[in-house]
Amino acid sequence: MQIKRLESLEHIDSQLLLLTEEDCGSLSYDTRIKGIIESLIKRKDFDGKKGKNLRVPLPEGNLYLIGLGKKDKCTLNLIRDSLAWGLRTAGRNHAKNAAVNLSHLKSFDGLSFVLGEASGLCGYVFDKYKKKDENYEPFALTEIYSDVYEPEEFRKGIVFAGAQVYSRELSNEPGCVINPATLAEEAERLAKECGLECEVWNEERLHSENMGALLAVGSGSKNPPRLIHLTYKPKNAKKKIAVVGKGLTFDSGGLNIKPDNFMLTMKGDKTGACNVLGIMKAISELKPDVEVHGILSSAENMPSGSSFRPDDIIRARNGKTIEINNTDAEGRLVLADALSLASELNPDVIIDMATLTGACAVALGNWRAGLFVNDDELAGKLLNSSERSGESFWRMPLEDEHIAETLKSPYADLVNCGKRYGGAIFAALFLKEFVGENISWAHMDIAGTDFKDKEYGIYSKGATAFGVRTCLDYIMRL
Ligand code: BES
Ligand code: MN
Ligand code: ZN
Repeated sequence: MQIKRLESLEHIDSQLLLLTEEDCGSLSYDTRIKGIIESLIKRKDFDGKKGKNLRVPLPEGNLYLIGLGKKDKCTLNLIRDSLAWGLRTAGRNHAKNAAVNLSHLKSFDGLSFVLGEASGLCGYVFDKYKKKDENYEPFALTEIYSDVYEPEEFRKGIVFAGAQVYSRELSNEPGCVINPATLAEEAERLAKECGLECEVWNEERLHSENMGALLAVGSGSKNPPRLIHLTYKPKNAKKKIAVVGKGLTFDSGGLNIKPDNFMLTMKGDKTGACNVLGIMKAISELKPDVEVHGILSSAENMPSGSSFRPDDIIRARNGKTIEINNTDAEGRLVLADALSLASELNPDVIIDMATLTGACAVALGNWRAGLFVNDDELAGKLLNSSERSGESFWRMPLEDEHIAETLKSPYADLVNCGKRYGGAIFAALFLKEFVGENISWAHMDIAGTDFKDKEYGIYSKGATAFGVRTCLDYIMRL
């Protein structure tokens, strides 16, 4: 997709106008179609209310009027979603180009960036396995003309979008295509393409590196686990960051097998790891003065004669022993070893992303992820990035003596699963046991936000790459 400066409306086959309710009262912009819009407003066909979108066929194409609601309630994120809706709808209606009017919204900071992001996300759908019949038309839109023109910001937005599309595309792949080994192959391919270092540990190496928790989770599958470590290392890095992702290429629950309807969508249990790859791809393109390590801990959780069992006692990389009381609480196990490894790198900050607990989804719903942070300053920065990026996070407690009490095992240092109530907090407290002292650490529980059952704004049906934008924004502002 190309974004150019809007100079004339000649050869333009679709126009997007995002209007607040106030904008409808006083049409200050100057366009050829001002009269048409005024009569639509007079007839109350369009009033700028949020969610009120209208396609107006014109002789030379379509005009899309998109309501933003009250000006003081309007956010940059609503503009991002509205742009994605408009561009997607125009593209599906055979538009090859679209003119976007944004100058009347100049009080919002970041317009060019979100236009870049929306342009990269609007055409994405996971349809590579669907037969393309005679009625199939590929997404037509290839050019956007904008009256707000900041090429560097467009580029940044397009790179952010590329990271999300990459993560979604991988996360949407089923377990019969992506397993830990094929995920590692893809990471190696990406690293080569992007000039990143990449190291992959196979089962043998995982044994010699004492990755006992990751090995236990992977032991039931004929697709053995992998630890994948990518590095971006600029010359004069001012900070060192490690981003860690849960990469369960499928989570059946293991011997504590999930009921059927809970197992569906568990191909998405690798979203954290896919996000980390997307982030590394974007970092290699944006080149910040920050050393970034991407660590993916990948396994397939399956029931079989070689599975790890309830009652097993395993030893994690940092030496702590864990009594398994539920094989479906496997994400925290693969993350335990990855967090130990990340801590050994001595980074300033570790951020992990994981579709970790159904409890977090129950608590916060499908539009807000849980954020657990051991450092208030880091929490503040991440919440600012979350706000700017339109990915909502809610800070959750990492301090709870009663839940902490339930981490204790009579036979080992820890149990892997606590009570039903407070399940997301238990999991976070468990992870904390594997993070080095004095390291600032944030844990993002993205279960609930990782998949959408229908498209909305910038999201298509399926994987969302939720967390990529917040994390990239944070790294790019260090
Ligand atoms: N991958 C799941 C969590 C999950 C649930 C992600 C729903 C996305 C949507 C995780 O491994 C899991 O199974 N968690 C259990 C933990 C329980 C056994 C303590 C859960 O949430 O039920
Ligand atoms: Mn599980
Ligand atoms: Zn899982």
